[in-house]
Amino acid sequence: MGKLKVASLFCGCGGMEYGMLGGFEYLGKNFNSLPFEIVYAIDNDKYAAQIYNANFLHSCEIIDVKEVVAVSVPDHDILIGGFPCQSFSIVAQNPPRLGYKDDRGKLFFEMIKILQHKNPRFFIAENVKGLLSVNQKKTFPIIVKEFEQAGYHVKYKLLNASDYGVPQKRERIIIIGFRNFQDFVNFEFPIPTTIGDQKAKLRDVLAQSNLIDEKYYFSQKAVDGMMRTKEKMNKGRAQNLDTQCNTIGSHLAKISLNGTDPVLYENGRYRRFTPREAARIQSFSEAFKLESVSEHRQYRAIGNAVPPVLMWHICNTLVHCCINAN
Ligand SMILES: C[S@@+](CC[C@H](N)C(=O)[O-])C[C@H]1O[C@@H](n2cnc3c(N)ncnc32)[C@H](O)[C@@H]1O
Repeated sequence: MGKLKVASLFCGCGGMEYGMLGGFEYLGKNFNSLPFEIVYAIDNDKYAAQIYNANFLHSCEIIDVKEVVAVSVPDHDILIGGFPCQSFSIVAQNPPRLGYKDDRGKLFFEMIKILQHKNPRFFIAENVKGLLSVNQKKTFPIIVKEFEQAGYHVKYKLLNASDYGVPQKRERIIIIGFRNFQDFVNFEFPIPTTIGDQKAKLRDVLAQSNLIDEKYYFSQKAVDGMMRTKEKMNKGRAQNLDTQCNTIGSHLAKISLNGTDPVLYENGRYRRFTPREAARIQSFSEAFKLESVSEHRQYRAIGNAVPPVLMWHICNTLVHCCINAN
């Protein structure tokens, strides 16, 4: 069987691609190669692209998606894209949730444009949970309808990465489009692979505390400040190491102890995750190279990514239900 060609919009550092290609190890498990080949990838963030280009054979082109000329995109079987979620995210309350009225919310139309011109057999889109509820739940049905009008049968599901062996509670809406009705009928989203106590735990991916550089620890001043304000604010979100980490975001470089972002409390001290720990929390394997950009950029690209192990399960299921079934 030949490989299916993949085009990727908003590729970031390539979490989706890394999972889709497979052929990596994570927490002692082997995620075998899947029959896909990347033929096209774009993002407008040159730092994310730098990480991407250190890890894949195909290069990411640094370009604004609005500049992409659909006919010049190479032929492909699957279009993938986590269209930017800032305007959809429930975190983005300031300005209040703008949804599809906001310019950035319209970027998914660029995905539609390419689907209309290139007509691939499948597409896979990913977004934050908030996409389901934004604009009094009016945005999501519009998005689904747009995909249907572009000629696709659409299935979607809210998946939690922690159900698939990732030590992080990360809920993402996965939208899959099928050009052929039979593929649509055949496809089922993957069932959870881990439940209860079998789930991967934060402890499994942390570095030994004696190897952690001092720069990752919060100062005593920051800790005292948090203690003073803990009545009215959230006490630093120190994570329980024996369960799954709360969702990590793209601004881990700048987190404070008073925010809602996950931090660690180890041996009586508070600290942030290292970029490598953040990558492991997202289920990137040790082989994934981060170091071509500053730590600040690493956190950003990693926090934005789709967990590769989650993507592997989705794509492995697609292969079994639709590709091998024919
Ligand atoms: C949620 S992240 C995608 C993460 C990626 N799917 C992964 O798994 O690693 C969204 C990406 O969209 C990119 N982006 C935002 N606006 C863009 C635009 N106008 N043109 C191209 N890329 C854009 C951002 O730089 C960011 O990398």
